Amino acid sequence: MYEQLPVSAIVAVANNGVIGVEGDLPWHIPADLRFFKRTTSGHVMLMGRRTWQSLPGVLPKRAHVVISRSLPPVEHPQVTVVRDIQSALVTAARLESQALAQGTIDRPELMIVGGGQLYTAMWPWVDRLYRTRIDLSPEGDTRFPAVDMSDFQLESATPGTGDPAHIFEIWQRNQRPRR
Ligand SMILES: NC(=O)c1ccc[n+]([C@@H]2O[C@H](COP(=O)([O-])OP(=O)(O)OC[C@H]3O[C@@H](n4cnc5c(N)ncnc54)[C@H](OP(=O)(O)O)[C@@H]3O)[C@@H](O)[C@H]2O)c1
Repeated sequence: MYEQLPVSAIVAVANNGVIGVEGDLPWHIPADLRFFKRTTSGHVMLMGRRTWQSLPGVLPKRAHVVISRSLPPVEHPQVTVVRDIQSALVTAARLESQALAQGTIDRPELMIVGGGQLYTAMWPWVDRLYRTRIDLSPEGDTRFPAVDMSDFQLESATPGTGDPAHIFEIWQRNQRPRR
């Protein structure tokens, strides 16, 4: 029942909206990578094909659902390639239910991990946004989309330590999104 699946997006975004450059992140911030690992561990990560290709490999302890019209199937038990959003949601709901039954997670939460195209495509489903704001304005070719945040409220904003300055924000949608 993917209609009931809580959906979150997680992103690190610079002051100028940039999230990526030449298929990679424009910065290296270990504290944010640790936050990403902690927040997504055990959950299904849904990503676009370009983000999948930007990863150093399969990340441990998380299922990867990759959406693509062109990528052939990937022979790895943690990776499922799907062709459209509905298949992505059905697959994610099944894998989150399995993780819940196995006690790997306390509650289902699909994690949309990017990139720009996927945040745009999945925005109507997103109930919760983990947004790390990075105090930089780097050159880049991928931006976080200009989404409507008017029905979201800021739940917490926690400054991280280290350089560049960054803040971990958590936003929650007031009502269930229109799907
Ligand atoms: N700062 C951050 O938090 C963050 C997070 C993630 C990624 N990034 C960065 O973002 C950049 C990548 O983002 P991007 O926008 O270029 O690409 P992307 O969203 O990762 O992937 C785009 C691809 O996903 C597939 N796709 C998208 N929507 C689809 C749909 N509705 N149905 C089927 N397939 C669909 C298509 O693959 P096919 O062409 O194969 O059909 C499309 O070309 C990289 O630089 C990455 O490092 C940053």
